[in-house]
Amino acid sequence: MKILITGCCGFIGSSLTEKLLSKEIKIIGIDNFDSYYSKKLKLRNIKNSLENKNFQFLEGNVENLSKLLDKKTSVDIVIHLAASPGVRNSFENTSHCLYNNINVTDRLINFCINNNIKKFIFASSSSVYGVNKNLPWNEKEDLIAISPYAFTKLSCESLGRMYSKINNINFIALRFFTVYGPRQRPDLAIFKFFDNIVNDKRIIVYGKGETFRDYTYIDDIVNGIINTISLNSNYEIINLGNNQPTKLLDLIGMIENITGKKAKIKFKPLPKGDVPATYANIDKARELIDFSPKIKLEIGLQKFYDWYISNR
Ligand SMILES: NC(=O)c1ccc[n+]([C@@H]2O[C@H](COP(=O)([O-])OP(=O)(O)OC[C@H]3O[C@@H](n4cnc5c(N)ncnc54)[C@H](O)[C@@H]3O)[C@@H](O)[C@H]2O)c1
Repeated sequence: MKILITGCCGFIGSSLTEKLLSKEIKIIGIDNFDSYYSKKLKLRNIKNSLENKNFQFLEGNVENLSKLLDKKTSVDIVIHLAASPGVRNSFENTSHCLYNNINVTDRLINFCINNNIKKFIFASSSSVYGVNKNLPWNEKEDLIAISPYAFTKLSCESLGRMYSKINNINFIALRFFTVYGPRQRPDLAIFKFFDNIVNDKRIIVYGKGETFRDYTYIDDIVNGIINTISLNSNYEIINLGNNQPTKLLDLIGMIENITGKKAKIKFKPLPKGDVPATYANIDKARELIDFSPKIKLEIGLQKFYDWYISNR
């Protein structure tokens, strides 16, 4: 089996690539080192995989895949993780986010259709539920996106549905809930909190620290993606969350315990696009892909801290 992973140098992409290579699966990875965060960090993420004989790396934009990939190479599955991430960033760089997340996904699905690749796994996001108050969210809930980023993920789910109906392609969207762990993106809260607390800098806490997030450990997400590879279905949307939301102030308390330092907090109002709570119902994931998150938040945070200390 040969799998193409887009965004293979990012946080989730590099972790997934490494895990699949450890199972002797052949991987083609593509990444354009998007300037959202540093190339140095992404090269470090992918360093081990680059040494693996079963890994082929293509540097470039997903939209140019047909020029980058040898015509003779056959691919069985595409796992599309490349995107412009970040809710706040999507307000500042809206047109790039719309283009990179929607148009590029459209090109990639068409590449699959034209090259007889029959399965497409797409990285969607809990942000599509937006301000829906009916927690925990199951996949049939109303979607009330409140940011351009969430809109792009919602649009791609619809694109995938359309193509799965009119073409011979299976499309599975996985809605990830706040993924954390080693290699986490430096713009995300857990990374910033550890970094600032360790360096005695102030942390910014939005919304009085009363927001809740269903933090999900990277290995659990990677296992969920891998289990989806063998799922036989024309179109599905599946939540991948931890099913155990945590209040922001409690998260900070755990980080204080791990670092042995007290956080200096500056409170700010919740910015537009940020939702008050996320909470995944994972019954469907349990049933269809035997998903069962294993890592408790305290343990996952300790693993992040150990990685952070040995990589700074
Ligand atoms: N991290 C989370 O908590 C989270 C939650 C929900 C959904 N997601 C989604 O999961 C996916 C991976 O997220 P991540 O946190 O690993 O992000 P990341 O930014 O670490 O990884 C994305 C990678 O894609 C690359 N990329 C972006 N546009 C590209 C393009 N056009 N061509 C080639 N490469 C491109 C970037 O250089 C980067 O290495 C994204 O689609 C994101 O929206 C992430």
